[in-house]
Amino acid sequence: MPELHYTTPDHAGVTQGPLLHEGKAKKVFATNRDDLVWIHFKDDATAFNGVKRANIGDKGAVNARISAHLLRHMETAAGVPSHMVAELSERDHLCKKVDIIPVEVVVRNVAAGSLCRRLGIEQGRVLPRPLVEFFYKSDELNDPLINDENALMFGWAEAWELAYLRAAALKVNEALVAFWDELDVTLVDYKLEFGRWHGNQILLADEITPDGSRLWEKGTQKSLDKDVFRKDIGDLGDTYRALFARVFGHDFAERAGGAAV
Ligand SMILES: Nc1ncnc2c1ncn2[C@@H]1O[C@H](COP(=O)(O)OP(=O)(O)OP(=O)(O)O)[C@@H](O)[C@H]1O
Ligand SMILES: [Mg+2]
Repeated sequence: MPELHYTTPDHAGVTQGPLLHEGKAKKVFATNRDDLVWIHFKDDATAFNGVKRANIGDKGAVNARISAHLLRHMETAAGVPSHMVAELSERDHLCKKVDIIPVEVVVRNVAAGSLCRRLGIEQGRVLPRPLVEFFYKSDELNDPLINDENALMFGWAEAWELAYLRAAALKVNEALVAFWDELDVTLVDYKLEFGRWHGNQILLADEITPDGSRLWEKGTQKSLDKDVFRKDIGDLGDTYRALFARVFGHDFAERAGGAAV
């Protein structure tokens, strides 16, 4: 697949403003435009809600490139609009500034991770249909599983928003499963975040990366994602560069530069 960069005429003249938020994997900066944020992808890897940490060279660049590519693909193949405006460098995205809905959406195709721990389902069981789960976005509480009633009762999302999250997640899933399938990768599960834009529109936001996805190589079942770091089963930098090569068809070292502002 050719390495196309995400760019629109919209980003002309945008400059970086002050840091608004530093998360575990990214920094979010204001810009000279009220409606746009500048998101920088760091090389930091964390697991178990920040308990395990390391700096992994190239991770930020691989994640930024894969995320831009997949978010764009979700717009064209799944019809789900995202926050992306442009790739400003290989680690920097210009995005529409949304009000993040504090309901993380996890989609599962194969049982793994917390689903197995919570319900005693054996790891690797192929689910008969995609399972969409909601989690309350709260580091202090370790992102607990919630149901619709919780989200409605405590004002985290409205009913129409939950319906949109579920429908959009299923559309994304169909396109994303097909995308990885073509590359001989099973999309086991992943997390999505959505945000409110201009009050009445919802955009797919944040990132779609191997940090927030479980990807297993077909046949070998080898992990191609952050589980390599969580479980200490290989070199995460090598894993991410290899994933980049699988997606774009050329080595990470031969990558194209991002669009300049
Ligand atoms: N378009 C956007 N507008 C505003 N905020 C955004 C947008 N996209 C993502 N964010 C938020 O920016 C932050 C990105 O930082 P990062 O992913 O490193 O956070 P994190 O450490 O994972 O913590 P969090 O639990 O907040 O996600 C997240 O809080 C995410 O929800
Ligand atoms: Mg995050």
